Formats: sequence, C-alpha cells, structure tokens
Amino acid sequence: MLHKNLGISADNHLTIQGFDTVELAKKYGTPLYVLDTDMVYENCVMYKTLIEKYFGKGSMPLIASKALSCKEIYRIAAAAGIGTDMVSGGEIYTAFSAGFPMERAYFHGNNKTDADISFALDCGVGCFVLDNNEEISALEAEAAKRNIEVKVMLRVSPGIDPHTHKAVVTGSVDSKFGVAIETGQALETVKNILACRHLKLEGLHCHIGSQIFEYEPFASAADIMIGFIADIKKETGFAVSALNLGGGFGVRYVEEDPVYDYEKALSDIADSMNQAYAKHGVERLRVYFEPGRSMVAAAGLTLYTVGSHKTITGYKSYVSIDGGMPDNPRYALYQSKYTCLIANKAGDEKTDIVTVAGRCCESGDLIQEEAPLQPCSRGDVLAVLVTGAYNYSMASNYNRLPRPAMVGVGKEGDRIIIKRESYEDLVRNDI
Ligand code: LLP
Repeated sequence: MLHKNLGISADNHLTIQGFDTVELAKKYGTPLYVLDTDMVYENCVMYKTLIEKYFGKGSMPLIASKALSCKEIYRIAAAAGIGTDMVSGGEIYTAFSAGFPMERAYFHGNNKTDADISFALDCGVGCFVLDNNEEISALEAEAAKRNIEVKVMLRVSPGIDPHTHKAVVTGSVDSKFGVAIETGQALETVKNILACRHLKLEGLHCHIGSQIFEYEPFASAADIMIGFIADIKKETGFAVSALNLGGGFGVRYVEEDPVYDYEKALSDIADSMNQAYAKHGVERLRVYFEPGRSMVAAAGLTLYTVGSHKTITGYKSYVSIDGGMPDNPRYALYQSKYTCLIANKAGDEKTDIVTVAGRCCESGDLIQEEAPLQPCSRGDVLAVLVTGAYNYSMASNYNRLPRPAMVGVGKEGDRIIIKRESYEDLVRNDI
C-alpha cells in the first residue's frame, strides 16, 4: 500500500488506520472525506522533533493550514505544540474559534486587506508575513493607532525555480509573492520595515513551491536567503534572527512517486545551511518550515459510490462517481495523479483501465484518466487515496453540490469532524 496507515481487511476491504472504509461509506454516506487524525498528529510531532533536532530550539513547524483548514486541524496543531500558517480572515477565524494559541499563528498572503489586518490584530495573530510596501504602511498605521508593536517577517523571492507544476512555483523573481532580492527591492523593503516604529522585524520568509522531492532547491533558497541576511547586516547593521523556508515537501500519491525521507531532507538542508552560515558569516538562525501537503495529504482519502461503468466501444471506459471536481478539483486544475481503487474489492487485481468521471455537467470534471481499477459497477465504493491536502480546502459548490462530510478516524474512534452540507446550507445566503 502507498502509506502505512492503509491496509486490506480479511473481507478484502480497504482500511485506513484499521477502519473499514466500506463500513464508513455505509455509516456516513458518500461522497465522504476520511481523515486519519492520528497520522496528522504524528506528522506534526515528527516535524516538531526533527526541526528542533536539526535546527535548534525555537525552530518550529507551522502547519500550512491552506492544505486543510478546519477546527480539528487547529486543535491537533495546538495539541502538538506547533504553529500555523494562515492566509485569510477565514482561516484566522477558524483557528481562533478552535482555541488555537494565536501567538503561534503566522499570517500570510500577498494582499491583506485593511479589514484582514484589523481582524488579525483583534484575534492576536502572533506574526504578520508582509508582502509589499503598501501592506507595511497599512500595518504600521493600524499598529500605531492601537499603540502596539507587531512582530513581522518579510516575504522574499529568492529566485528559485524548483521542478514542479508551474501553477505551484512561487519563489521565482517574477512571482506575485513577496519582493525580489535580485532587483534590490527586497533590501529597500527591509529598510522600510526597520524605519517603522511599530513593526518588529523577526525575520525573512520564502516559499519556493509545492510537491518538491529534491532537497537541493530548499538548500539553494536557504543559501541565497542567508547571503541576503549577511547583506542586510552590512547595509543596516540589523541582525535578522529567523528564517522561514516555507513548505513544499513532496508526497507520494502513486506507486511511481518516491518514498520521501523527511528526516534526510531536513538534515541535508541543515547541513547546507551550516555551510552557508560559515560562508556568509551569519549567526545560526531560528528556522521555521510550513509543511501543508506533507502534514495532511496521506492522512486523507475520499470515498465515492460508483453510479455507472460505461464503455464507449472501441474508445474508453468511464466510471462515474457521486462526487468530482467540486470536492477534488486537482486533476482538472493540475492533472494531478491519484491512486483509485474499489474499496470493497481492495485486494483484487486492477484489470481495467478507466477514466474516473465526476457528476458535474462539464467534460473536464474528471478525477483521473487512464487509471488502473478493479472491475466495478453501480453500488461499489470507489476510494481515491491521499486526498487530505487541497481537496476539502479547495472544494466548491459547483452545480450546487453540497460539500461532503469529513469523518475523523483514530484513537478517538470514527466521528464527524465536518458535517455534510445540506440543501438548506446551499440556500442559506440566498435572498
Ligand atoms: N507556505 C506558503 C507560503 C505557501 O504558499 C504554501 C503553499 C505552503 C507553505 C504549503 O506548501 P505545501 O507544503 O503544502 O506544499 N493548491 C495546490 C497547492 C498550492 C500551494 C500553495 N502554497 C495543489 O493542490 O497542489
């Protein structure tokens, strides 16, 4: 199986953390997101332990909650003692209402509105990751009005282009995020922050992209950032104390993907950073990472009911399911690879090659093409694996389909952590 929390029961059913997925589908209905909450907690603790081990005390993971934002995630992160990366008032509100310790919240985004800034301050967000000069002025003005000092980081683009899908590359010079070192604008922006009486610069942030399997792009980004920190010291006398290297560690979606060794990646990055400190004459920094996908993706799967298996003679076969792009838009957007299987025939050989189609009135509403699958028909339960990240968080109500429920499984048993939307929910804001 792709990940260690998955298995096959004596009844030939797919299991997650020992829970029978066919039983879960029966009990809660489909489409259904299932989240192994024990695995999410273990991942939080793993990152915390490894980051402290390789980067020293005070260094910490901040779970990128855009991958999956719901109250349960913030409760798990709080219990594990880690921080979070948040990108909107909605994520802040969700964390705040779950009782997350907001001093460990880092507020990102390339366009924080005045309302966002004010709301984040009301909620006690610990650090703002600032993107541009206008944002700096807006935060300084609000902090001055409140007569408070606010901790900030500056988002910088190091000019790194990792090998991943172009839609998720974010650290190149022409990115919409942050300010570029290469153009001299990053240094100017640092100076602007240092001139603000109510902003306290904690450090710099960069995020180079997502679903990256090599460690070198992180090491190169760190080297560039440490070099820039040396320049800041030279130019302004200010010693930056923290570096946030963002998220982006790869996750295994299909058998062909590598098994990623997170400890090795972190220790290799730490080794290269130690060399960079020596090379640039910079004191060891506190280091933050913002793993999102690698925290939650493998902990999740989605269960659907097969409605039809239709073969267009001489062409191809479609297996239609009772969900689709509204609950998982990632194939439509990025042609993302997924592993599909029939949960009630989990151990059988996959002898068919099919297109898994959603139920929307749109040809592009596909979950996977050319997917190997067990023979199936109406009523079978189809599982899509590794859907914990960027599925629920990117879900929509396209075609007025209610968003599925999410069931948590783990030591606390199986229980609803997000309720299924009702038709009533769909019209709640309609006048
Ligand atoms: N930090 C920052 C500032 C980010 O922009 C992101 C992701 C992360 C951390 C987390 O990266 P991760 O560890 O999850 O790779 N919707 C796309 C992914 C977009 C990622 C955006 N930023 C997808 O479904 O693949």
